[in-house]
Amino acid sequence: MKLLKKLTAADGISGNEESIRKVIIDEIKDCCDDYEVDAMGNLIAHKKGDGARVMLAAHMDEIGIMVTYIDDNGFARFSPIGGLYVRELVHRRVRFANGTIGIIGSEEKEFNKKPEFSKLYIDVGAASKKEAEQRISIGAPAAFIGEAVVSGKTVISKALDNRAGCYMLIKAMQSIKKPKNDLYFVFTTQEEVGLRGAKAAAYSVNPQYAVAVDVTDTGDTPECPVMAVKLGGGAAIKVMDRSVMCDADVRCAMIEAAKKHRIKYQLEIMSDGGTDAGAIHLTRAGVKTGGISLPTRYIHSPSEMANTDDLKACVKLLAAVAEELK
Ligand code: CO
Ligand code: ZN
Repeated sequence: MKLLKKLTAADGISGNEESIRKVIIDEIKDCCDDYEVDAMGNLIAHKKGDGARVMLAAHMDEIGIMVTYIDDNGFARFSPIGGLYVRELVHRRVRFANGTIGIIGSEEKEFNKKPEFSKLYIDVGAASKKEAEQRISIGAPAAFIGEAVVSGKTVISKALDNRAGCYMLIKAMQSIKKPKNDLYFVFTTQEEVGLRGAKAAAYSVNPQYAVAVDVTDTGDTPECPVMAVKLGGGAAIKVMDRSVMCDADVRCAMIEAAKKHRIKYQLEIMSDGGTDAGAIHLTRAGVKTGGISLPTRYIHSPSEMANTDDLKACVKLLAAVAEELK
């Protein structure tokens, strides 16, 4: 799990993907024919083949926060970047690009009330506005801290959403030596704020088929909403989420590939939340698009939990289906 640890350790909140992109370029530069970074910051790597033009996409950005205001005592207010739950934020640690560490606090009198973003602040340990401004500034992005830990087949980390997807793309890229299909491996930006990078990337790649890889919710924790996806149940083949109805041809190709290569799989319907598939399938005159997802508990927390066998199943399935679409 060395690569997954490396990918989750890098920070890259939406719109600020420079450092995670560098880490990925380092991993892929020797196993593709060429790569480019477009105006949106998407990293598009190409492995040439004569068959169908297939786009495989994983977003590399993660949720985080951005400083909006610094008060006279050096405490900062912030905006959420991506889908954050206010109730989970208090006393979380954040890390800024320059290494500054902060903690999220709540106005004392608000502690037992319904939480609101406007009552939370970031404390970087500064004694004054001046001191705080030496470490952070308006517009400074920060990521959550949550180092990856592995125990048995369980991995817990921040940003498994969606460094797990980046991992799948990199591993698939390394395993496909001479592709039949014309493969574009796209590491997209700004998914967490509205599938923005994927929209531009899909336009330029102009694929016949696309597969978006990401994490998905599970229905296997106490009293959670029912859902037929569980940890350890294998790669999740997306049927639909709030952003897309997956193309039947792509979905069938995935199921066939899973059966043929004996890859454990389950079918996914995620009623809450979307993925890059939502933006990609609406590109130009439409793109036949599917999704492969890693079942993950506690998504958008610093302790997202997944199963390493599921992750391996996702890699195998992605590599197989990339070559078997025609
Ligand atoms: Co997400
Ligand atoms: Zn995601």
